[in-house]
Amino acid sequence: MEKTICELFAGVGGFRLGFDRLGSGWKTTWFSQWEPGAKTQWAHDCYVQHFGECPDLKGEIHTGEDISTMVKDNIPDHSLLVGGFPCQDYSVAHTLKSSKGIEGKKGVLWWQIRDILIAKRAPFCIFENVDRLLKSPAKQRGRDFGIILACLAELGYSAEWRVVNAAQYGAAQRRRRTFIFAYRNDTEYGKKMASVELESIISDFGFMVEAFPIAECGSSSEITLDNDIIAVSDSFAFSFENAGAMRDHRIVTRKVVEKEEQPILLGEILQKNVDEQFYITTEKMPKWTYLKGSKKIPRTAANGHEYIFSEGPVAFPDPWDRPGRTMLTSESTLNRSTHVVSDPGTGRLRLLTPIEAERLQGFDDDWTNSGMPNRMRYFCMGNALVVQMITRMGKVLDKIVEQE
Ligand SMILES: C[S@@+](CC[C@H](N)C(=O)[O-])C[C@H]1O[C@@H](n2cnc3c(N)ncnc32)[C@H](O)[C@@H]1O
Repeated sequence: MEKTICELFAGVGGFRLGFDRLGSGWKTTWFSQWEPGAKTQWAHDCYVQHFGECPDLKGEIHTGEDISTMVKDNIPDHSLLVGGFPCQDYSVAHTLKSSKGIEGKKGVLWWQIRDILIAKRAPFCIFENVDRLLKSPAKQRGRDFGIILACLAELGYSAEWRVVNAAQYGAAQRRRRTFIFAYRNDTEYGKKMASVELESIISDFGFMVEAFPIAECGSSSEITLDNDIIAVSDSFAFSFENAGAMRDHRIVTRKVVEKEEQPILLGEILQKNVDEQFYITTEKMPKWTYLKGSKKIPRTAANGHEYIFSEGPVAFPDPWDRPGRTMLTSESTLNRSTHVVSDPGTGRLRLLTPIEAERLQGFDDDWTNSGMPNRMRYFCMGNALVVQMITRMGKVLDKIVEQE
């Protein structure tokens, strides 16, 4: 099997960098990155500066356009489909044209992934999403992930998932993300795994437990998905644990405890002698102290109900002896979730530099120093993933692909 990748929702190329670092011959045949509503496509430009362009099968360039406008048959062949896609409402209804067809909400990107799976039939997939995916939406918990698994099952795929906290596996950031590994049932790997109990795929023999070893594994609970995706959309609800596997519509889930590795600490990734622009000025200090502190504020809900909004304090500054917190796209703006550190040289409080933001995600220094403003460098990093997690999964996939 050729080691070829199609990278969707590519951002600044976290998946690609993670596979490149393996040095085991993975080649990206196509990618897609388009920031809705943005005039300048900073992430796409940065990606192309690093890796160059990817023409489609017609020799045309459409990598920087809305993926929903792409003719899926024109995407070059690939053995691995990857992408970090947003957590959206995946509910479906019957199409008007046919009661057999399904129609998801417009702009929901999972349906683009599904269309590409139908057109290109990638033998393997790795997807990334927020941890909340497993519990969404609040009023029908687990429905959205159930729909994803039901689509994969219908298309002849089995899947595994794990919620991974990158800091537990040696990274510099406490970032929890759901990773989904899907494989076509007719691959050698799919045939081999068909005889392994789903319970023990999770605890001992699967892809995720090899990439992300565990210390403990709880008892199993299971559910079988309806064959009809609309029925899943209408009534499926399930309490997904942080690990699980699905084959032929049957889902088994177990709560696992991650086997902790020594993380990189925030203090280890800080730069010295940074530019004055990153320091917090005396005038802004009261605002930062307020945002980071605990508060109780009387509020009125839309329905007139009065309540007290309360939140506890966050560490201020962020401690050097722990990995960083989850980086958001709003990193470096005046915001409670922005990291504030004590500078190792001066001891004064300051924001992270763009290079430190890159280090939190495991990118090379200056990866996003491609001409975009600093504000966008933080944004791109907030959107990205922890690259080492991809390399870990890539190592396991290399062994699997060897047997194909
Ligand atoms: C969560 S980020 C993934 C970032 C990536 N994994 C990285 O390492 O940088 C999702 C990306 O999808 C892009 N995106 C959103 N809607 C899109 C669309 N309709 N077509 C193509 N890309 C889209 C966003 O601009 C964003 O960069």
